[in-house]
Amino acid sequence: LFGLPDQAPHERVLLAADEQTGLKAILAVHSTARGPAFGGCRLWSYDNELSALNDALRLSQGMSLKNALADLPFGGGKAVIIKPAGAFDRPALFAAFGRAVQSLEGAYITAEDVGTTTADMLGMQAHTQFVSGIPRAGAFGGDPSPKTAWGVFVSIRAGVRQVLGRESLEGVRVALQGLGAVGWHLAEFLHQAGAKLVVADIDAAKVARAQELLGAQAVGVHEILAADVDVLAPNALGAALNAQSIPTLRARLVAGAANNQLATVADGDALQARGITYLPDYLVNAGGIISVAREYRGEGEEQAVMAEVGKIADRVTELLERVKTAGGDATPGRIADAWARSKLIKPN
Ligand code: NAI
Repeated sequence: LFGLPDQAPHERVLLAADEQTGLKAILAVHSTARGPAFGGCRLWSYDNELSALNDALRLSQGMSLKNALADLPFGGGKAVIIKPAGAFDRPALFAAFGRAVQSLEGAYITAEDVGTTTADMLGMQAHTQFVSGIPRAGAFGGDPSPKTAWGVFVSIRAGVRQVLGRESLEGVRVALQGLGAVGWHLAEFLHQAGAKLVVADIDAAKVARAQELLGAQAVGVHEILAADVDVLAPNALGAALNAQSIPTLRARLVAGAANNQLATVADGDALQARGITYLPDYLVNAGGIISVAREYRGEGEEQAVMAEVGKIADRVTELLERVKTAGGDATPGRIADAWARSKLIKPN
């Protein structure tokens, strides 16, 4: 467990179980070097407990890198709740989860991720103060997904400029895998900028909506990664970029919201070898954590947060310049990892 590939050791991992509500959760605190560990909570059906643990550990490490690169005064952590098999009392489940978060006394702060909603976060407030991503009367807060989508959008724009040498997204073909909370907002931003969309989702209604409202071309979920496009944006779950999919890719740039897109670090090298530029997920998808972190500190304001998220584009440009300067077999993934790890220290 402590020797998972590509993993630095975690500071703390809490396994929380509550018989009454059926809660089985893993709260992983990877690093508090920069401050309390901050990262969302995923509710998901896992094949077994080990795969849930693996997900939590990979996601929490990613949060350390994400928060460091985004210059946030927070460390990295993440929680996963194993979705109970049958019917369950949702508010009670999240109340029990909130108590588990509280038991860490602030070492970990939670928010939304796949499968969890602003309503879940709101309900948890009665049980822990270490929660964010909540709509707040008269103050900044709420759903981080549009901010995540904005960060991915500005990253694609910066990447297209540098990799494809195109100043505008007009006519640029972008494939979107997943049209969920982030994917849908991203599709809208891209459509407004004149990009041509190719989309897939396991939910046919979302695909139909994108066809109708955004003029998107629909392809099957097994075809999307190999679509004939300029840019691929994975916005579903992790490990979309793996030994099977990479040889089939036709995009020259990959940038999307999904966490842990590379199945292994070596898959980043395989992309590079094929002449495909991969913008690391934890760099481009930091918009959501920037939003909930601002909200948590009570210092957010819509325009200022959007502007801060927009700065992700500068980091994308800097990263691609660092890769060029390093030369040889440097990849954006490896350079970003080293850059983020150098920032796993208390900020000034
Ligand atoms: P979501 O659950 O709202 O959306 C995921 C979408 O992907 C759903 O529409 C689902 O039907 C679709 N999907 C699932 N499997 C698929 C497949 N094989 N092919 C095509 N579509 C598939 O989740 P959300 O919040 O949009 O997050 C998407 C990804 O972005 C996740 O990996 C999440 O961890 C990551 N992320 C989300 C942030 C946020 O602010 N919500 C912040 C940073 C990362």
